[in-house]
Amino acid sequence: MGFIGIDAGGTLVKLAYKSESNQIHTTYFLSSRFDLVKQWIENKFDHPKICMTGGRAKQLQNFLGTENYQYVVEFDATVRGVLYQLDKNHIDIQQAIVTNIGTGTSIHHLFETQHTRLGGTGIGGGTLMGLSKKMAGTMVFGEIVERSSMGSRKHIDVLVEDIYQENQLPIKGSLTASNFGALLHSEEEVNSDNDYLAGIQGMIGEVISSLSIQAADTKNVEDIIYIGTTLENNEMLQNVIASYTTLKNKRAVFLPEHGYSGAIGALLTI
Ligand SMILES: Nc1ncnc2c1ncn2[C@@H]1O[C@H](COP(=O)(O)OP(=O)(O)OP(=O)(O)O)[C@@H](O)[C@H]1O
Ligand SMILES: [Mg+2]
Repeated sequence: MGFIGIDAGGTLVKLAYKSESNQIHTTYFLSSRFDLVKQWIENKFDHPKICMTGGRAKQLQNFLGTENYQYVVEFDATVRGVLYQLDKNHIDIQQAIVTNIGTGTSIHHLFETQHTRLGGTGIGGGTLMGLSKKMAGTMVFGEIVERSSMGSRKHIDVLVEDIYQENQLPIKGSLTASNFGALLHSEEEVNSDNDYLAGIQGMIGEVISSLSIQAADTKNVEDIIYIGTTLENNEMLQNVIASYTTLKNKRAVFLPEHGYSGAIGALLTI
């Protein structure tokens, strides 16, 4: 026996499970390695109860050959996982924007336990991986995160103050006017690969926080909860997002189990 919640996403399969002491534990595998997921489950559990969610849930279920499983709609599971974490960490929020930065990004409005999808963007964790591969020759998430923090965006982006020279600034000068816009006039060799990585993280964080802030304005909401594995140990992305969000007088909330809200929610559905 045993209980497992599985969120099979576009890039990663996240698992949340209960130990004998009833504590929730988590682990993940690449979505391209269903074989490892199967092996892991078979090694650890005997006829477990499984609840699945995520875009690849059906695919994974077919691979596992499990007849006996539950399915829960992705955002129902995610919200359940978010509410669980808010409660566990004593964060009192009734209403918020929830932005899930997965392979792509999805933006929802949460009111108590109800949620509606407001929109999203194709700019997300997949963008980080794809552009990092092309621009800096790395596809290793941990390396991308580490190296981006050593890079500089000075000769990558155009800032508002770069354009408004000698004029009175209409908005804060340190805001980005154009992500990657500075590449047009800078010499190739000015920027290192780490600088490109920093620019990619900056662009992703700024697009996502800008959209989330607009969503928060529309719904008159102050709190924006950012989740998704793209944030995992990714201090730079969190910093970009937090500073944009704070600048617009909203509150950025990060949860300890960024990437596991869906899997935890699926587990709690059983
Ligand atoms: N070990 C890792 N391997 C690959 N990507 C990782 C890893 N750790 C973090 N990431 C980042 O997390 C992103 C995936 O996030 P997440 O698991 O939330 O998405 P997903 O659920 O697979 O996708 P979606 O919800 O869009 O279907 C990747 O695109 C990458 O940026
Ligand atoms: Mg997901």
